[in-house]
Amino acid sequence: MLTLTKKLKTQTVDKQISITYRGLHLIGNRKDILLEQLEFQGIYLPYACRAGFCGTCKIKLLVGRVLLLTKNNITEASCILSCSCIPEDDLYLE
Ligand code: FES
Repeated sequence: MLTLTKKLKTQTVDKQISITYRGLHLIGNRKDILLEQLEFQGIYLPYACRAGFCGTCKIKLLVGRVLLLTKNNITEASCILSCSCIPEDDLYLE
């Protein structure tokens, strides 16, 4: 039996979100890596390390919040590493 806190957290994580990538509207979630969610829906971004080191998978975040899983060393404004973050809100990406 789940505790109330764990149950609420599970419901929050399982909640669907909207991901808009270059005008394409996708359904995403708040528990999987952004790069993997895009790939699952047929959008393949370039990548190399998939661990937050090389910067190949960088993507511009126009609106929304993500949970960063590694320190983001990218200096370009609004860029995130899609291999190392999890969406927290609806996202608009370019
Ligand atoms: S693939 Fe290397 S930082 Fe994402």
